[in-house]
Formats: sequence, C-alpha cells, structure tokens
Amino acid sequence: MKTDLTVNGEARQVEHESRTTLLDALRDHLDLTGTKKGCDHGQCGACTVLVNGRRVNSCLSLAAMHDGDEITTIEGLGEPGALNTLQEAFVNKDGYQCGYCTPGQIMSATAMLEEARDGAPSHVSETLTGSVPLTDAEIAERMSGNLCRCSAYPFIREAIAMSAE
Ligand code: FES
Repeated sequence: MKTDLTVNGEARQVEHESRTTLLDALRDHLDLTGTKKGCDHGQCGACTVLVNGRRVNSCLSLAAMHDGDEITTIEGLGEPGALNTLQEAFVNKDGYQCGYCTPGQIMSATAMLEEARDGAPSHVSETLTGSVPLTDAEIAERMSGNLCRCSAYPFIREAIAMSAE
C-alpha cells in the first residue's frame, strides 16, 4: 500500500505493508534514523515525533493511519546545519549521557512547551498555566512519557527550563 506524508515540510510517498508502523516507515523507508526505536511498545518515548504538531509514539501508530498528515522528526527542527534554541539548551546543560533517548526527549519537549504555552494543564498544577516558565515538577510530569536509562533527568529538565525562559 502507499501512504502520502509531509515529512519535515517535504512531500513523501511511502510504499509499505499494512502492518508497518510510522516509526519503521520513517527509519527504514525514508532513512530518517534520528527517530529511535527503544522498547517498540509505547513505553519509553524514544520514538516520539510530531504528527500535525502533537507528540506521538511512532512505534504505536501504523503508517497507513497518517495519509495526508504532517510529520516532524528531529531532522526537521532548526535550520539546516544549525541547532534550535531547545537543542542548544540540551547541549549547554548536558541534557543527555548516551544520547539515545535525546531525539525523543527533544521532540516531546517541543510539543510540551507548545502545550504549556496554549494553557494545557498538567496534573501537577491542575490549573491552566497559559505561559512558561514551568516549575521543575510540571516539566517532570509533562515529560514523564520519555524515559532516560542513564537518568539524566535533572539536566534534561534544566535544558527544557532554560529554553522556556
Ligand atoms: Fe516507541 Fe519506546 S520505541 S515508545
């Protein structure tokens, strides 16, 4: 079957089996290997991409469900050859150790900061914040779907807070 996607602003067509996940379509069919496969079961967040601006675990979603959708991967952030503010903050704050979870962390944080700016409540605040900066506890709660087996969580949260300033 064929699925038409817009990936990082570019029209792409993927020919794939009906059971192909969005993650495998990105990595194996489009060579966008920045998106990582960790658990492949929706538990680690390493495969997080944006689908029409919202964060999605791409291992849990079939490529065929995304015909016509806009997909943003880690390769689509910033300008070519340059890091964006959030990526720079991860570098400045050492928001990683082995780095395997980093693309998923950054994609999730990208959407999370937009959600916070739009006033989506967290379970911590129970109120509409409507703005950043977020508290450390709010960042932790909003990023709880992204695991880091090196436990770089304090530095990841610092990087997100820095970019939200
Ligand atoms: Fe998709 Fe772990 S690889 S959530």
